[in-house]
Amino acid sequence: MRIAVFVSGGGTNLQAIIDAAESGKFSAEIALVLSSKPDAYALERAKEHNIPAVYLSSKEFSSRDDFLNAMFDVLEAHAIDFIALAGYMKKVPPEIVQRFKNRITNIHPALLPAFGGKGMYGMRVHRAVIEYGCKVTGVTVHLVDDQYDHGAIVAQQCVPVSDHDTPETLAERVLAIEHLLYPKVLEWFAQEKVIVSGNSVMILS
Ligand code: GAR
Repeated sequence: MRIAVFVSGGGTNLQAIIDAAESGKFSAEIALVLSSKPDAYALERAKEHNIPAVYLSSKEFSSRDDFLNAMFDVLEAHAIDFIALAGYMKKVPPEIVQRFKNRITNIHPALLPAFGGKGMYGMRVHRAVIEYGCKVTGVTVHLVDDQYDHGAIVAQQCVPVSDHDTPETLAERVLAIEHLLYPKVLEWFAQEKVIVSGNSVMILS
């Protein structure tokens, strides 16, 4: 499986996937890193590990079609057959979602469908969880459809919220779980253990 990791920021999840790949216990190849931001630190991480890295933003194109074609071209040029969103803050164009049906995942730092959707990212998620008074939050990996943070759930892991948590302390513990969960889930896909039927996802043991 040749994965493209889509990023917009620091790329600690990308790093966790790179580390898994370099540990030799990962069957997929990270064949491309695509960033929606030119200065995302994730691009540096990719370069340090000799992974092809591109900045691709609709802002650089005069039409949506040109942007879409450029995205298709780069995915094809690197023979990508799976896309992992890891802190990618843009919507994936529906044509790409269609072409990669059930082959695009996203990771989100909460237990979806709670605390997700447009504008729910980074510290905002953890602040909202604490303000609501939740006793547990967590991590979700889901298939991507045409809405933000939406699509069949592949895996979730809980993280308890303590009375003393700040958004920052909670974010740190949730992120640590993300780093464990995402490579594991991607490995399930690489080993063809994920069976999708409508909104239900089964993992073969
Ligand atoms: C991660 O916490 C990820 O779950 C979140 O962005 C962060 C990216 O961190 N994604 C979302 O909020 C999606 N709605 P990273 O760049 O260090 O991997």
